[in-house]
Amino acid sequence: MRKRLFGRTGWQVSEIGFGSWAIGGEWGSVSDQDAEAALHGALDRGVSFIDTADIYGNGRSERLIARVLKARGKGDVIVATKAGRKIQPHVSSGYTPAVLESFIEESLRNLELHALDLVQLHCPPFEVYYRPEIFEALDRQVAAGKLKSYGVSVEKVEQAIKALDYPIASIQIVFNMFRQRPAGLLFDLAKKRNVAVIARVPLASGLLTGKLHANSQFGADDHRQFNRHGEAFDVGETFAGVPFEVGLQAVEALRRIVPPHAGLAQLALRWILMFDAVTTVIPGAKNRDQASQNAAAAELPPLTDEQMAAVRQVYDTYIRRHVHDRW
Ligand SMILES: NC(=O)c1ccc[n+]([C@@H]2O[C@H](COP(=O)([O-])OP(=O)(O)OC[C@H]3O[C@@H](n4cnc5c(N)ncnc54)[C@H](OP(=O)(O)O)[C@@H]3O)[C@@H](O)[C@H]2O)c1
Repeated sequence: MRKRLFGRTGWQVSEIGFGSWAIGGEWGSVSDQDAEAALHGALDRGVSFIDTADIYGNGRSERLIARVLKARGKGDVIVATKAGRKIQPHVSSGYTPAVLESFIEESLRNLELHALDLVQLHCPPFEVYYRPEIFEALDRQVAAGKLKSYGVSVEKVEQAIKALDYPIASIQIVFNMFRQRPAGLLFDLAKKRNVAVIARVPLASGLLTGKLHANSQFGADDHRQFNRHGEAFDVGETFAGVPFEVGLQAVEALRRIVPPHAGLAQLALRWILMFDAVTTVIPGAKNRDQASQNAAAAELPPLTDEQMAAVRQVYDTYIRRHVHDRW
C-alpha cells in the first residue's frame, strides 16, 4: 500500500483509507462481527487511515474502531472523526466553542484516546465558514492537547475554498467518477496551500461497484431508500446526487473500460488516485471482502489516457448536467 503525505501534518497515510459510516448506521443492519472484520480486512491490507464521525450510529462506529485498534495496537493508524451533526436543528447558531468541546470529549471517550488525530467540522451550514471564532475554538483545543489537527468536511466546492482561509489540515469532499468538479480550482488551491484532500463517497454509495440494478432493494433504514431525494440530509451524499436511473446508464457505459481481473469498484478507486491532490480515498465497506477488494485497488496500474478520456466522456454525456453546478 502506497502512502501519501497528509498536508502539513507530516503524517504519511495509506492512499486507500476506510470510511466507517456504513458500519455505524443508516446503511441497513451490519453486525458487530462483520463491522470488525471489515476494519481488520482493511488494516491487514495496509490501510492506515480511518474516517468516522460521532454521529455514525450515535458513537457505534467510533466504539467499533476503538475496539479493533485496541486489539491490534493503533500504531501509525490515523483516525479522523467529525463533529457538528449532533446539533439539532443543524443551524449555525448551534455551533459554539462549548458545544464543540463537549462533542470532542465524547469522541475521546468513544475512541478511547487522549488526543484525537483529526476532527472535521461535519458539513456545517454555510454561515459557519464565516465565523472565525469557531476555527479559533478548534485552535484552542489543539493547544490544550485534545486534538492534533482539524479540518472540514464540506458539501460544496465553494465551502472548501472559503475554509482555506483558516489553518485547516484537511478538506473532505465528495469526489468520484460521478463528481468531478473538485478536480478544478479546488485541487489546485489545496495543493498550493498544502492541505490534505480526503475523497469521500468514492463508489457513489455502491452505484460505481456495478452491482446495482433498476430493481435493487434497500432496507427502510438505508439512506439509499430514505434519502434518495434528500429527505433526511443533502441528497449529494446519496448516489453522489445522481438520479439513480441515470447513474445506472452511466455505469453501463463505464463497464467497457474495466481492466481485466479487476472490478468497476476498483477502477473507480484507482481513477480517484490518478489525482495527486487527493491524499486518501475512503471507500465504505460492510464486510471483510469489500474492504479487501477496495484496498487492493491500490495495486492496479495507473489508468491510461484513453481510459481517463472515456470516464470524462461518460461524465459529460450522462452526469454533468445533474451535478456539476450544484456542488
Ligand atoms: N458528510 C460527510 O462528511 C460524509 C458523507 C458521506 C460519507 N462520508 C465518509 O465517506 C465514506 C465513504 O462514503 P460512503 O460510505 O457514503 O459511500 P461509498 O464508499 O461510495 O459506498 C460504500 C458502500 O458501497 C458498497 N461497497 C463498498 N465496497 C464494495 C465492494 N468492493 N463491492 C461491492 N459493494 C461495495 C457497500 O454497501 P452495500 O454493500 O450495502 O451496497 C458500502 O457501504 C463514509 O463511510 C464516511 O466515512 C462522509
